[in-house]
Amino acid sequence: MVKVTVCGAAGGIGQPLSLLLKQSELVSHLSLYDIVNTPGVAADLSHINTKSKVTGHVGADQLEEAIKDSDIVVIPAGVPRKPGMTRDDLFKINAGIVRGLATAAAKFAPKAFMCIISNPVNSTVPIVAEVFKKHNVYDPRRIFGVTTLDIVRASTFIGELIGKSPKDVECKVLGGHSGITILPLLSQVPGTDKLSQEQIEKVTNRIQFGGDEVVKAKDGAGSATLSMAFAGARFALNVIEAAVNGTSVTECTYIDLAAADADAVQSVKEATGDDSLTYFSLPVELGPNGVKKAFPIGSLSDYEKTLFTAAGAELKGNIAKGAAFE
Ligand code: 2OP
Repeated sequence: MVKVTVCGAAGGIGQPLSLLLKQSELVSHLSLYDIVNTPGVAADLSHINTKSKVTGHVGADQLEEAIKDSDIVVIPAGVPRKPGMTRDDLFKINAGIVRGLATAAAKFAPKAFMCIISNPVNSTVPIVAEVFKKHNVYDPRRIFGVTTLDIVRASTFIGELIGKSPKDVECKVLGGHSGITILPLLSQVPGTDKLSQEQIEKVTNRIQFGGDEVVKAKDGAGSATLSMAFAGARFALNVIEAAVNGTSVTECTYIDLAAADADAVQSVKEATGDDSLTYFSLPVELGPNGVKKAFPIGSLSDYEKTLFTAAGAELKGNIAKGAAFE
C-alpha cells in the first residue's frame, strides 16, 4: 500500500501532477487535497483504469483525513510568480501555506517522505524541517526540495546545443532552486568540451533563469506548471520506487546537509567557500528511508567555481529566512 497525498491538487501544477501519479502502478491511494475544487478533480481522475483509489478532500477541516498515514506528501500548493517577480517574492503567502500543511503532516503522517515544490523552495524546505523538529518527528533524510525541473531543463537545453537527444544528456544541477543559486555542472557532461565559453555561459544562464522564460511567456497567467508537474512526478515516483522496490535511483535534490555524508558536506564548504550553509542540492542516492547517500560535488571548471561562490550568500539568506519563519 502506498498512499500519496498531493497538497494543492486542484492547482496548475497539482492537476497534471496528480494525473501523472494516477498513471503509476506504484501508487495504491492517491489523496487529493486543496482548499477548493478537489472533489471534481478526484471524480475525474477516479475514472482512469489504473490501480490507485482516488479520494478528494477540500478545506482545512478535511486536511487530517487527506494526509493521515501518507507514505509520501507532495506539496505544490501556493501562488505562482507573475512577470517581474522572483521566487522569493512569493515567501509572504507561500510560507504560511507550507507551514500549515507541514504541521498536518508532522501530526498525522510523521514518517511520510515530504517533497516540496512550493516556492521559494530554498526557504520552504527549512520551514518544513523546523515544523517537524518542533513536533519531535524530524528525520532530515525524508524531506526533499524538488529541484528536478532544473535537471530536466538542463538536459533539454544542453541536448539542443550539443546535438544529442535530451534523454541521453545527464547534467547535475546543484545548489538551490532560484536564479543564481541554480548551479548546473556542465563541465561534467560529456560533449560540452566542444562548447565555447560564451555558449557555456549562455546555456548556464538559461538553466538558471528557465523559470522566468515561462513566467514571461505566460504573461501574468503564472509560472511553469506542466513541466513542473512532469519533474515533480518523476521525483516523487523515484522516491517511492527506491523505498518500495529497493531500486537504486540517484536524483539531485535540495536537502538538509545533516542528512549528507561528511565528504559531501566538505565539498559544499570548499566549493562555496562558506562553512555555514545548512541546505544544498546534491546528487542523492534514494533508498528505503529517503536519503541513502549524498555524493560530493566533484570537479568544477574555473567558471563554475565563480558560480558556486556567488550562490552561497543568496542561499544562506534564503535558508535563514525559512528557518526563522514563525
Ligand atoms: C520553475 O522553476 C515554477 O519554480 C518553478 O519554473
